[in-house]
Formats: sequence, structure tokens, C-alpha cells
Amino acid sequence: MLLPRALTLFILWGSASCVQYRADFNMMGVTGWILFDSTEQKSTTNLTGTGTCRINISLTTFPVMYGHFASPCQKSHIGESVFTFSVDQPQAVVNVSSLFEQNISLDALSVLVDTCTGTRICAGLTSESHVRTWQARFYSPIAGNIYIRQVTGEAGARVLSDLKNVDQTRTFPNVTILVSQSSATSCNTLLGSLDPKSLTKLGVLTVGSPLEPVKSRLEISTLNSNVHFAVLNLTSSYMCAEIRSVAMKVVSAVVNMQGIKGYFTFQQPSPFDLTTIIVNLTNLDRRVGPYHVHQFPLPQMRSPSDSSCSNNNLGGHWNPFNLNTQAPRGSTHDLFEVGDLSAKHGSLENSNNFQATFTDWNLPLFGRNSIVGRSVVMHLPDGTRFACASLGYPGEVSVAKAAFRGLVVGTVLFTQLSSDPYSDVSVFMDLSYGQLSAPSTMNHNWHVHNYPISTETDSDKGGCLSTGGHWNPYNIDTTGSVYTVNCAPDSPFACEVGDISGKHKTVDLQSQMGTVATKNFFTDTTSWLSGMVGRSLVIHGPNQAGPRIACANLTLYRFPSARSDFWLGTGTSEGQVRFSQVSPQGPTILNISFTGLNARAGGYHIHILPIKSTQEPCSDTNIMGHFNPFSVNTASSPAPGNGTVDQYEIGDISGKFGDLTGQNSFQNQYTDGNMPLSGPNSIIGRSLVIHYANGSRMRCADISAEVSQDGNLVIAKAMFSSAITGTVMMSQLSFPDGSFGDVMLEVDVRASQSSNFAEASWYIADKPVGSDGTCPGEEEMYNPFNTTNMNNCSQDRALSCLVGDLTGRHGSLSLKKRQLYNDILLQLAGDFTAVHRALVLRLNNTTTACANIHPESPSATQIFPTMASFSRHDFRKRVADVLNLHISRVSILPGSPSQGPDGKCQQVMYLVSGEVSQEKLRSVKTSDMMGVFKESKTCIPTGNTGLMLVPCRMLLSAMTAAVCLLRSLRH
Ligand SMILES: *[C@@H]1O[C@H](CO)[C@@H](O)[C@H](O)[C@H]1NC(C)=O
Ligand SMILES: *[C@@H]1O[C@H](CO)[C@@H](O)[C@H](O)[C@H]1NC(C)=O
Ligand SMILES: *[C@@H]1O[C@H](CO)[C@@H](O)[C@H](O)[C@H]1NC(C)=O
Repeated sequence: MLLPRALTLFILWGSASCVQYRADFNMMGVTGWILFDSTEQKSTTNLTGTGTCRINISLTTFPVMYGHFASPCQKSHIGESVFTFSVDQPQAVVNVSSLFEQNISLDALSVLVDTCTGTRICAGLTSESHVRTWQARFYSPIAGNIYIRQVTGEAGARVLSDLKNVDQTRTFPNVTILVSQSSATSCNTLLGSLDPKSLTKLGVLTVGSPLEPVKSRLEISTLNSNVHFAVLNLTSSYMCAEIRSVAMKVVSAVVNMQGIKGYFTFQQPSPFDLTTIIVNLTNLDRRVGPYHVHQFPLPQMRSPSDSSCSNNNLGGHWNPFNLNTQAPRGSTHDLFEVGDLSAKHGSLENSNNFQATFTDWNLPLFGRNSIVGRSVVMHLPDGTRFACASLGYPGEVSVAKAAFRGLVVGTVLFTQLSSDPYSDVSVFMDLSYGQLSAPSTMNHNWHVHNYPISTETDSDKGGCLSTGGHWNPYNIDTTGSVYTVNCAPDSPFACEVGDISGKHKTVDLQSQMGTVATKNFFTDTTSWLSGMVGRSLVIHGPNQAGPRIACANLTLYRFPSARSDFWLGTGTSEGQVRFSQVSPQGPTILNISFTGLNARAGGYHIHILPIKSTQEPCSDTNIMGHFNPFSVNTASSPAPGNGTVDQYEIGDISGKFGDLTGQNSFQNQYTDGNMPLSGPNSIIGRSLVIHYANGSRMRCADISAEVSQDGNLVIAKAMFSSAITGTVMMSQLSFPDGSFGDVMLEVDVRASQSSNFAEASWYIADKPVGSDGTCPGEEEMYNPFNTTNMNNCSQDRALSCLVGDLTGRHGSLSLKKRQLYNDILLQLAGDFTAVHRALVLRLNNTTTACANIHPESPSATQIFPTMASFSRHDFRKRVADVLNLHISRVSILPGSPSQGPDGKCQQVMYLVSGEVSQEKLRSVKTSDMMGVFKESKTCIPTGNTGLMLVPCRMLLSAMTAAVCLLRSLRH
């Protein structure tokens, strides 16, 4: 397929009359350019900062990857030299006709210059024309990336590779690469019925090893744009990888804080290109100066807003090469921290509105040192952090989440573009010890393991042994000592895909939560999200010891969303507001569409409570005032639509974005970084009010959570009826992979007339209310993960709280008004359900009232002959099979199995997440599919209806009461 040399030259050079290639330098204090002109066959050099002497220049085979390596100009990074020449001085024009006689395009070569001061600098060579890049990735035994590049208008293309042999038992000095135009759906399908004759050979690529990486380059005379797969011929077998187009990455940090609006946009077409920065900011008001990329993304907005930008939240400047430099301004980009944008491009000092575009030689959006997913911080001239914004992703993302509880607490999030399994995976971890007494430890290995934690924790307390070995889909050999040498951050393909500490860094753990020391952010280039979800993340012992100390399942993160429900109130307007997010903790996107406002509306806001009464539904007594958990003083808020989102109450939508004055119908989309859809300040479950222009309330609607497709709602309720009366309703979404949404608690309890207490502290106890009605004491607070960090428990540090400690993370509850809380720690289903435990209220340090948390979701009791060892998994599996639903939807309630009424039998109470018909639920009892758990006649004392753990008359929920009632009828 390769054309004869002469013909290739004709294609490369004959068709394009005047092709200029240019390398722009910005390295080691040297700036300037070198130009190659194919018509004049000349090279023009114009460099400053090289010193003056005769300068040697070479062209090498592989393009520079700016920001990827501490020493980007090494041969292992830019390949072999293919042409050398020298110039008398840094500004010179020389004839290079022998270069143009070579069978190569100059596109994607590097220009390497040895300066007069002994330094080496390099820059990539590109034409003015647009370039397209494709990528194919191989894993084992030959691993690495193959890039195919083509300049628009050229028929030819080039293959650039960094392949290495990661199988110790075999050697491949070089390998033949072929391409396929097959329309097979995957590589497996293609290789399954491969017709070698259908492949087009491109040529031979050199293969390196983990310790001796090599770059390889291949010129091809024509590239069929229809190729779908790259195939490597290993002589006795083939490897295949999909060829995917590399899309330009564009990410933005959208600023909306401290009155400053605008954005920082970063774009980079491929890993071989320079990064462009576009800055557009308004209302700086001469306040800020330096600005940088910082290590970590923003957490949910804190109060005051600038604390969101703190060192504990965002860390220091992004500085992957650990540069400690005070290099004077005007020096080249490589001499600054990667993230120090103002040092490289100038400060924002003395600006009000600022617009500029910069080119950055050391700010990668691809690869290990990528800035994607981190943050940008603007500082006051004295260095104080003033405003900040997270850096987004270049498209829709999928996120895997590991939520650690117990010995280790915190979360690890893995984020990747949904559309591209080759795209980089951001890993953001925030982990610490759950126990305050735990000493700090260092160098813990952590890996993705093959299996999720067994759904039953009976025999293996932590459950970590059930996760199997490391996720190693390409069977990388880890047995020899050579593995620890080969697997390194610079050589991730030599690592098991799941060996995250090998590819990045071990972790250190300390007892203090939520500090800069608990956070890490990595960009992983060899894993993919769909392969990770459904497995688990395991943290091993300190100093790289083997034992597993903590583990958590990798579940798919469900982005919460909500929408306004039906409207009540005096007006006639209709329409909807939808709230959604596209990155974890990310800004909320509001999609607003109103009709029938008839020019009568003014402001619109989120109010504190959901609508309870349809009488005067929008009244203050019903839904209370604006949702304002940060106690923003509205008198100091700017005029509607003028300020930034942090300058208004969270619920003040019209303040943030402008009101509805004069509108009849109204459509808009807004982005609000100060409107959480999860956590303690979530707006979900509250209400939305449209006001008349005069401020009185026109229409209101509940803000209801949208149930994602695989979500199942679980509902439970505690009812108080003595010294304190009223109810606490709890609801939560549960998912098949064992993950959960937040628990929403709707509280409506009052003290009896005689008492004048205004508030009560509250907790969930391990046990239910005693049979004689006694309330479990505070020492029996529900604490399944043995947390001892109690004094550290607060709203912001909910993960360090005992699960039962509601006061600790929500404060006291009011006995005078309804309230709504959003809890990130409770579970209503699964092994750690709060159902069938007691909710206890204390007045003035005295336990005053308690009520059991009963399921409102379907639940039932199964009675069967006593067995020596009860398998929870088997029981749940059988119930799930009878009901024809996923096992994750069946939870065994605490206290089960317990002895049956007559001592001979056992009984188990279980709960079903989501909906299931009563008829189906009844059928479980006597279904043959229940096997040993099938109801047996011997267990049922005739005429006795008291078969349940809790007597029927005490069952308060409608659904269980129905089950109970039906049972009574049957017997
Ligand atoms: C060389 O570069 C310098 C600085 O960019 C510029 O001032 C000068 O005009 C250039 N010389 C030529 C010959 O283009
Ligand atoms: C491939 O490797 C073999 C063995 O080292 C060598 O003889 C051969 O010349 C190489 N082929 C190419 C095209 O580099
Ligand atoms: C792959 O290599 C083997 C051994 O060199 C050779 O026989 C075979 O024809 C090659 N396959 C293709 C499609 O080139």
C-alpha cells in the first residue's frame, strides 16, 4: 500500500504550492520562531535568549507534548533526529533543500535547539492549516497510544506512536500496524471473524519497554477517512483498537462571585498543540490582581462565599513539576508553576472589565497534568483569595462515586466524558479517618478491585475481603519485582488498570476531616468509567502494607434534578422551573418557562417549606419565607439581576437573575453555583413562589425530586403521640447498585400544650422503642460504623457524625413550626437502614419522647421453620425472585431473624424499595420459590393473628397495616 518514494513526494509537496511550517518557542528563557518554507527550501530562524554562537538545530520524529513532562525535549519524548543543520547566529536564513528531499511531511515534527548556554529547547512544527487527529489505544501485551494526524488538504497522514511491550515474557522489537474499514461494532467482533486480506497495512512501528520508552513515526501516502480500527500484527495473533477522533478540548471556569461575572475559557485541539486562554471578566472594580489554576474543584457554596475558595477547599496552585520559582516576569512559561496564569500572562490588577486572549506553552488539557476539573482563583493584590470557580469538563460527564464510611470516611469521584472512553478520567479524593483518635498514617496503596462488597456483611465485617483481586483486565503480571519498577506514573500502561496508587500516588490518612491534606486530584489516562462502575475501591494498610483497611463500592453517581410541581394560588400562570446539574456539586442549571403571567408578576423565589395545606397554600404560615440558610442580609443585596449569585439569598431567583416585571410568558436558562440540589442546603422538597408585582404571593408549587429511571423511592415515618405529637416523614431514592440519594426529613412535631419548650434535640437509636414504651438512651445512638468523631460532627462535616446524631448535623428541631431537612448520611434501605429503630426526642437534656421509624414502603413478615444458620443473601434473593425484582430492592429490617411466636419458628421482616403490589407481596409467603423460607403450617398457631414482630394495632403505616390486615383475614 505504501507508494513509491517519488510519488509520495509528489503528493506531499507537489500539490501544495507554498507550505510553511513554523515552530514557536517559549522555553528556558528562549522565545521566537523557526520557519520552514517548502517553496524557497529555506529555514528562517529568529530566536532571542539563546546567547550568540553557532547553533545546532535538529528535527525529530515526534511532536512536543507541552506540560506533560518535566524535561519535554528528551529523545524518549520527541523521538529520533531525522535532520540536522546549524545556523551562525540566532537570527539567520539558511538553505535546507536536503530536508525537502526526504520522504516526510514536516507536520508534527519537533524542532530541537541546542542553545549557546548549553540548554536544550524544543517546539512542535505545524502548518497554518487545520489538522485532524485520531487516536487508538492498546493495552497488552503491546500498550500505548497511536495517533494519526492529517493536515487538511493533504492526502497523506502520519502515524505517531508510543508503544511499549508490557508483557515480560515476550519481546516485540517492532510491530506491523494495519487498519480496517470494517463496520464491525467492536474490536471483539472484528477479531472474532477477521479476514486478514481486508486489512490495509500502514507499516512497521518500533516498540519500546516501560523503562526505555520510544516514539515511532510512520508516513502514509493516503489515508482512507473511513478507517475504524487499528490492528497490530503480533505474528501469531492480532490486537485491535478502535480509532476515535480526538476532539478539541474546551473547558471554562464560569465566574459568578463577589460581583465579578465572566469566564476563563481554555482550549487545546490535541495533546500536541498549545493552549489558548480566553479571559472575559466584568466588574473587577480594580479589586483583584493575581489569578491561578488551583488543585481542587469547589465544594458546594459555603458561607461566607469566599471561604469556598479557601486553601482547605481548593489547595494551592497547580504545580505538577513542583517548581519553586520566583522567575522574573517576561521569562518563559516553563519557568512558572503550570497553574500560575498571572505570572505567565500578566495580572488583572487595576482592571474593571478585562478581555484578553493568551497562548500558553505549559498548560495541558490532556494527560496526567491536565487542569480539567480543577479550579481558577482570583486573589486580591495582597494575595488573599477573593473569588473562584470550578473548571468544567469539555462535555457531558459520567461519574463513579465511592463513599467511604467507617474507619475511613469521605468520597472518591471518578469523572469522564460520557461520549469517550479514551478521554482522561479525573480522580478527586477527599478521605480521612472517621475516628478522631486515629493516628496519621502514610503511604496507603489503593486500588479498584474486581467485585463490589458482598451485599451481606454477616461473616466479613468490613466486607473488603469479598472484593476479590485488583481490577486487571489485561492480566498485567504483578508477581515479579519488575512490576514495581515498570508500573510508575510515567508508565501507567505497565500498571494494572485498577492500580491507582501505582499509576499516581499512595495516600496519607489523618483524623482531621476536610482539610487540604485529605484531598488529592489525579488525571488518569488508562482507565475508563464504564469498566469501573460496579466494582469497588479498596484502601490498604499504611506503608504499602497488604491488609485491606477500608473499601467502598464504585456506584454510578446520579445527578439530582427536580422540577416545580402543579401550581396553587390565586393567579392563573402556568409553566415550570427545572433544576439540574451536570457535574458533582456543580452549578445548578435552571430552565424556566412561564406562561400566563399577564404582566402581573414580579419576583420569584424558593421558599423554605413544601405546601402542606391547600387553604391559603402560598401563605407564610404554610410555606414560610425565602430559603436563606446563609442568612444573607437582603438589604445589602444588589438590585435584581445586577449582582452575582452569592450576593442573594439561595432562594432568591429573581434577585440573582432579574424579575418577571411586565412579562406575559417567560423562558430562560440560568446557571447558579449557589443553589445546591443535595446536602443540607438542598432546595429539593421546598416550594417555588411567584409574587405579584406588589410583593404579595400569586402562585406557588412544590419543588419535587425527579426520580431517575433506575431509582426506587423508600418512605418511612415516625409518629409521636404523647408528650410530643406529630410526625417525621422520611424519603430516599435507592438504586440497584446499592447507592442512595439523600434522605429528606419532613418534620412536623409539637410539644403538648402544657410544655413551653420551643425545640428538642433528636437522634436515632440503634434499637426500637422498648416493649414497655421506654426510650433507648443517648448511649444507644445508632452508630453502625463505630464513629468516635462526635465532637467534630457538624453540618459541613456530616461524614464524621454518628449516623444517628441528627442534632449534630442539623441542629435542634423546632416544636413550633414545620421543618425540612436533607441528610446525606441516613439510609432507609439496605444493611444500614434506619427503619425499625427509634427516633428519640430530648427536651432540656431529658429524653421525652420516642417513636419507631416504620416503613411506609411495602414491607412484610415471613415466618418459617427455624434453621441453624440463616443466610440473609439467600433470603433476599428468594424474595426478590418471587417479586421479580432486583435483589437490591429487598432489605431485611433490623431485629430479624427473630424467634417466631411459638418458639419453634423464625420470622424475618423485610422492606421493598419502590412499588410492588400487595397481591405479589402476599404471594411471597407460600411461594415454593422461597424454599426453606416458605411459610410452614407448623409455624402458625391457629387463630393467632399476632404473628408479626410488632402487633398489628401498632403498625401505623397504611401499607404495612394493609399487609397485616390481610394476614388476619387469611388465618
Ligand atoms: C525577530 O523577532 C523579533 C521579536 O519578536 C522581532 O522584533 C523581529 O522583527 C524579528 N525579526 C525578523 C527578521 O522577523
Ligand atoms: C524489526 O525488528 C527486527 C528484529 O529486531 C529487525 O531485524 C527488523 O529490521 C525490524 N524491522 C523494521 C522495519 O524496523
Ligand atoms: C501477520 O504476520 C504474519 C507473520 O509474519 C503473516 O504471516 C501474516 O500475513 C500477517 N498478517 C497480515 C494481515 O499482514
